Amino acid sequence: MKFENPWKQNPWFESVAVAQERARKRLPQPVYGALVAGSERGQSVADNQAAFAELGLAPHVVGQLPERTQETTVFGQTIGSPVIISPTGVQAVHPDGEVAVARAAAARGTIMGLSNFASKSVEEVTATGATTFFQMYWTGERDTMVQRMTRAHDAGVKGLIATLDWSFSMGRDWGSPEIPEKVDLKAMVRLAPKVATKPRWVKQFGQEFLRTKQLPDLTAPNLAPPGGAAPTFFGAYYEWMTTPPPSWEDVAWMRETWAQISGTPFVLKGVCRVDDALRAVDAGVAGISVSNHGGNNLDGTPAAIRMVRPIADAVGEQIDVVMDGGVRRGSDVVKALALGAKAVMIGRAYLWGLAANGQAGVENVLDVLSGGVDSALRGLALASTAELRPGHLIVPEGFDRALGVPETAAARR
Ligand SMILES: Cc1cc2nc3c(=O)[nH]c(=O)nc-3n(C[C@H](O)[C@H](O)[C@H](O)COP(=O)(O)O)c2cc1C
Repeated sequence: MKFENPWKQNPWFESVAVAQERARKRLPQPVYGALVAGSERGQSVADNQAAFAELGLAPHVVGQLPERTQETTVFGQTIGSPVIISPTGVQAVHPDGEVAVARAAAARGTIMGLSNFASKSVEEVTATGATTFFQMYWTGERDTMVQRMTRAHDAGVKGLIATLDWSFSMGRDWGSPEIPEKVDLKAMVRLAPKVATKPRWVKQFGQEFLRTKQLPDLTAPNLAPPGGAAPTFFGAYYEWMTTPPPSWEDVAWMRETWAQISGTPFVLKGVCRVDDALRAVDAGVAGISVSNHGGNNLDGTPAAIRMVRPIADAVGEQIDVVMDGGVRRGSDVVKALALGAKAVMIGRAYLWGLAANGQAGVENVLDVLSGGVDSALRGLALASTAELRPGHLIVPEGFDRALGVPETAAARR
């Protein structure tokens, strides 16, 4: 008889909070710290989640519907549930990194956002069959950007996400985690005490090492010049830091260039203000994500969910408005949709799932969220997420943050 360990943990988890706790136990402290992140005093990262908890629901007792749908069409793609994978650049969480996330996105029929700073190449990620949107920062010369866009298009991506909100805010009260330039012997010896306490994580990477005979390399393969080597994470960061910030003309150029190369949707991520949303419409974007970069950017920026309604009211009929920041449960998704978002993007939630259980962990997170959306629809006696309106929520007075509302924006509404 085969002995089954009765104490073995069930890999399935019931909430994103449980996945986070498993990730905390499993990951070396600097890696876990890099994911929790949040800039300066952490005001924005905290508000991203706290604001969702200020919103309430008022369920019905009878009259719930037997069938409910979450299907939505956003950025030209029809997805089964309105939850999209937001691009994130730190996936040393699991040896399969973005490939595991993409497989999970494909299995659950959603969009995979792939970061500029991803650890896996865009070709490996599109080979999973996932509907992939490539994310770019404004970094490098225009020719270099064209080459990167062309490569992503050739790999088969279905859209481009331009993330332009990053303002290089340094200094975190919780202490930034150390990221080695290269995972060489020197770095391994230095980090060993923090890593040695996490045998399961080491074992996963050790198995990968035995398979590939290579140490995990902190490089950005999607920023490699044609036929050249991938830059290190810091090399890539340096190029980005030293690139002059873009103007609205640059955004229009990027949008037009992408249209010529690919003809697929162009999404601007990181919009906080109504005036910027209106200018994004003028620049011809197909969509925007209302976002404060998960609270990792300028601290003091309000929670993304507080900025959704004013922006969706201003531009939601012209372009697709999604949001990201602080989404941890299905009811958060429902709240964002009720305030005018067409879908949400998630960051940390799937990183916790990836750390806890690889591809299956990311699928588990997507299932937790869609299960929660379904429960909320049932309680609200709605047949579909498309029916969600602000009136389905309890919204405290003064909840919204309408930033940069020009007189003309008010008139256009
Ligand atoms: C560890 C980490 C790395 C990130 N890297 C990127 C990135 O490379 N590109 C990008 O557009 N956004 C990046 N983001 C922001 C996410 O796409 C998203 O805006 C944010 O995580 C949403 O907040 P949430 O984590 O509360 O869901 C990153 C976020 C985290 C936590």
